[in-house]
Amino acid sequence: MASRAATKFLPFHIPCIEEDDVNAVVDVLRTGWITTGPKVADFENAFATFLGVRHAIAVSSCTAALHLALDAIGLDENDEVLLPTLTFTATAEVVTYFKAKPILVDCEPTYFTIDPKAVDARLTPRSRGIIPVHLGGQPCAMTDIRAIADRNGLTVIEDAAHAFPAKYDGQYIGTLSPITAFSFYATKTLTTGEGGMITTDEDALAVRMRSMRLHGMNADAWKRYAATGSWRYDVAEAGYKYNLTDLQAALGVTQLAKSLAMRQRRAEIARKYEIALRGLNAYETPTCKSNIEHAWHLYVILIRPQRLRIGRDEVITELKKCGIGTAVHFIPLHLFSYYQKRWGYRPGQFPVAEDYFNRCISLPLYPTMTDEDVGLVIEALEDIAYRFEA
Ligand SMILES: Cc1ncc(COP(=O)(O)O)c(C=O)c1O
Repeated sequence: MASRAATKFLPFHIPCIEEDDVNAVVDVLRTGWITTGPKVADFENAFATFLGVRHAIAVSSCTAALHLALDAIGLDENDEVLLPTLTFTATAEVVTYFKAKPILVDCEPTYFTIDPKAVDARLTPRSRGIIPVHLGGQPCAMTDIRAIADRNGLTVIEDAAHAFPAKYDGQYIGTLSPITAFSFYATKTLTTGEGGMITTDEDALAVRMRSMRLHGMNADAWKRYAATGSWRYDVAEAGYKYNLTDLQAALGVTQLAKSLAMRQRRAEIARKYEIALRGLNAYETPTCKSNIEHAWHLYVILIRPQRLRIGRDEVITELKKCGIGTAVHFIPLHLFSYYQKRWGYRPGQFPVAEDYFNRCISLPLYPTMTDEDVGLVIEALEDIAYRFEA
């Protein structure tokens, strides 16, 4: 079968923005209060209730959330924080804000989330925390990670940028560790354009992070221009400007209300991919842990080089010729010039992550995809497998 002529391009991602989302943002525009205010409070309360956690703190990004989390645990110069090399640079860069060291580790060969054995092997007296990343929405081996953290007095801060909503052993991600950070970036499973949320059950951490997200001011300082507020406030610390706006939070509230329905549609699409692709020798499909609920932020296939005459990059090009957008998650951090020059990492150091990177393709996966769209992706992959069979 010849390649499909690219009549219409199917993008890698389109955010699911419906009329209720648009109306919610417009309503905020009409209230006269467009920065942090009552909508942010509504979004935080709804998010905390959804997960069943004491505190949800809305911030401008997941990067900000991770930064505030490390500040709240008192990360210090020369401390070490363990995290997977297979992640986005934000997970590690926040560690360097403190002149602390990101200790990169490899991932597990079946699920490609952080390998607890690799974490254990890289502990030193300077280890302070672990940032597991729920890659693509599949929760990490949290029981093992928690055990390592408990044995060694480390704090776990979960990078759940991909993991809303997801469960581990029946519990929502966001309720398991002292602090969890979520992302609402445009491609994420719940979006506010840009944005993030921190969840914690610990009151003292919540107080610190709430204050530091807005210049270290006392908690209700955002109300200072409102009828119920006062012009007087204290600045207890030199904080940051990491607040979310009511415009963004309005979108957060409407998106949250349909987050389970959106997840269900992504899971349905993942299932269609799985059924169609698992029989093809050219690709490996994702393996899910038995004790989790996947958020299905990403559906990543791995090409089998021994079964295909073309490499990952060529498969991406062929898909593009068929009008299908894809992405690669992620280039392992140790392959970037910064991590090599500043921290001495080198190619070949994390073979599982590198092999994954060389073979991975993230397929389109979002609720507004039609069955026909899914069919086009499957057909194109079948066609490539057939035409380039080794
Ligand atoms: C694993 C991971 N962590 C953190 C981030 C940072 O999220 P944000 O863009 O909300 O700062 C991303 C963004 O893509 C990510 O993929």
